[in-house]
Amino acid sequence: MQTKQRSKGMWAVITGASSGIGESMARELGSQGVNLLLVARRLDRLKALGAELKEKHQIEYQAIDADLSLPHEAKRVFERATENGRHVQVLINNAGIGVYGPFQHYPVEEYLKIIQINVTSLMELTYHFVGHMQKHGKVSYIGNVGSVASYLSVPYFSVYGASKHFVKEFSESLNYDLKKSNISVTLIAPGGTYSEFTERSGQTLKKSAHASMMTSQAVAQIGLEGLFKRRRAVVPGWTNCVAVNFPRFLPAKWMLALNHLVMQKAVDYKK
Ligand SMILES: NC(=O)c1ccc[n+]([C@@H]2O[C@H](COP(=O)([O-])OP(=O)(O)OC[C@H]3O[C@@H](n4cnc5c(N)ncnc54)[C@H](OP(=O)(O)O)[C@@H]3O)[C@@H](O)[C@H]2O)c1
Repeated sequence: MQTKQRSKGMWAVITGASSGIGESMARELGSQGVNLLLVARRLDRLKALGAELKEKHQIEYQAIDADLSLPHEAKRVFERATENGRHVQVLINNAGIGVYGPFQHYPVEEYLKIIQINVTSLMELTYHFVGHMQKHGKVSYIGNVGSVASYLSVPYFSVYGASKHFVKEFSESLNYDLKKSNISVTLIAPGGTYSEFTERSGQTLKKSAHASMMTSQAVAQIGLEGLFKRRRAVVPGWTNCVAVNFPRFLPAKWMLALNHLVMQKAVDYKK
């Protein structure tokens, strides 16, 4: 309740708001009276979501179509979001893609896109918004969506996993850098979550995968609670909390073999 009162009337940018975790975050923030700047490529979806939340919660919204796999889109999103003197107090860097399978199975262009979206655009948006938030001086929150793979080395997910390691190291260091400022930076690290990500990343779920999958609504609620508490990192779900702590106890080569085994039992890649 306190969080809801504190966040009411703020402006929040959410990248990847057209489906999955980003859409759920928009729904959750909208229900808290937060005004929304919704970013993704599928403009029709963003507009429909914004209009629905405006009607339900009397908030304001703007849909911004952007392809974050292209250089310079992050700067354009920042400029659109802050036009007319608008003060943004929440940035959720959620847009992310991945591909699962043997390294040579995908063209190199896919990997370049992953790095551009998950790493470069995320860092660039954070850079511009930190400057903006420092300037307006109001209490502000940045949430960077990483993954359980931010903590683990996962064979068949090498580029995706490495990009999510970047998200973790970057977010946690920046959280410390900005400790005494008006801005907090929180890593939100979900595990398997029902969304379009499974299909898009070339995975097919096997029966055993469902045991630990979470809904995007649960991930969004837990992630945002941690964000507004200014936590350094949030790992939603107890099975994911266990998973991220495993590497402390096992040698790296056992860990890699175990992760490969667990993934192969849970998912297959599209041949
Ligand atoms: N689902 C999981 O199991 C899982 C687990 C751990 C972490 N995560 C992370 O959670 C985040 C959200 O994923 P999700 O599960 O919600 O997947 P999702 O349903 O596929 O959503 C991904 C979002 O990113 C946007 N996006 C993709 N490519 C984009 C581009 N080139 N430019 C701008 N936006 C783009 C998509 O919108 P458009 O297609 O409309 O552009 C969509 O809104 C990602 O960072 C993902 O790595 C997911």
